[in-house]
Amino acid sequence: MHKIVLLPGDGIGPDIVASAVRVLRAVLKEKESQFMFSHHLIGGTAIDQTGLPLPDETKDALLAADAVLLGAVGGPKWDVGPGHLRPEAGLLGMRKLLGVYANLRPVKAYSKLLGASPLRQEVAKDVDVMIIRELTGGIYFGERERSALASGEKYAKDTMYYTESEIRRVVKKGFEAAQLRRKQLTSVDKANVLDSSRLWREVVESMKGDFPDVTVNHVLVDSCAMHLVTRPHTFDVIVTENLFGDILSDEAAVLTGSIGLLPSASLGEGAGLYEPIHGSAPDIAGLGIANPLGTILSAALMLRYSFGMDEEAARIEQAVEYVVQEEGLRTKDLAGKDEPFVTTTQMTDAVIAHLI
Ligand code: IPM
Ligand code: MG
Repeated sequence: MHKIVLLPGDGIGPDIVASAVRVLRAVLKEKESQFMFSHHLIGGTAIDQTGLPLPDETKDALLAADAVLLGAVGGPKWDVGPGHLRPEAGLLGMRKLLGVYANLRPVKAYSKLLGASPLRQEVAKDVDVMIIRELTGGIYFGERERSALASGEKYAKDTMYYTESEIRRVVKKGFEAAQLRRKQLTSVDKANVLDSSRLWREVVESMKGDFPDVTVNHVLVDSCAMHLVTRPHTFDVIVTENLFGDILSDEAAVLTGSIGLLPSASLGEGAGLYEPIHGSAPDIAGLGIANPLGTILSAALMLRYSFGMDEEAARIEQAVEYVVQEEGLRTKDLAGKDEPFVTTTQMTDAVIAHLI
């Protein structure tokens, strides 16, 4: 039995996770009986009901899971608490608990949505990049401190810390992803300033020999940020540490104008975690107009990476591509100013109808 933990979370999370589950059930058909779905609390909703963003009951379910599908967490209501009691702490705690050290964010242009890209269409049209972000180390999880000097002046400190093995395991995912794609790996760091980046670069160099078919180049993070908007189509796979990856993946997510369609997969040795890139959109929560496609495509990644069901994953991806590109359906976030748009349910129905 495959155990799938569903974490709807906050805002539009419950709507979009429900949509993805409908699509999963439809694509699995008779195989559905091999899967067990269970719902658990995370984020602001969990804070409201239990006082904690990642309750013990959820942690137990995560540790027993084969895969996890998350909607979104956060919202203005919970922005007031101390750091460890915010919805985001639930997310970071879960990443660490699951040990999902590699966050994969594929960004690919949909030709019919390029009108919403902030870039000129001829720059955005060939974008097809996979960002791999280290997710359980670096400055997010390094030693931190807040205190005051003898003079009374306050200070705060965060540490960017990496061991060789932490670098090696995520860079390996980068090489492997590149082997399945266009065989170009860009390793992003700040080796002109940071020691952690110099070590990162050394580790990448030491691994090149194991992947002779992959071309590697090293790019500084500031320069990479620039190249992502000037010549984004030149990137195939980017691998980088946690904070750089957080920033670059948001930048990459808007290149094609279709952030509502972007999925992500976070992988380690155990259960994978799948979630759309976009947030909880509290302003449209409960209105039934959220775009479910990012979550539906995340569910496709789940079938591919956690269960080896490449065929079913591809069927979902093709159905989404069809409704967006051929049928021209748009949820509100994708529609132009005076263009008509469909509801979350209508979009989900359309995907299911095209699951061939
Ligand atoms: C992301 C988000 C999170 C992060 C926040 C919500 C803690 O920005 O998944 O990219 O910084 O990792
Ligand atoms: Mg982010």
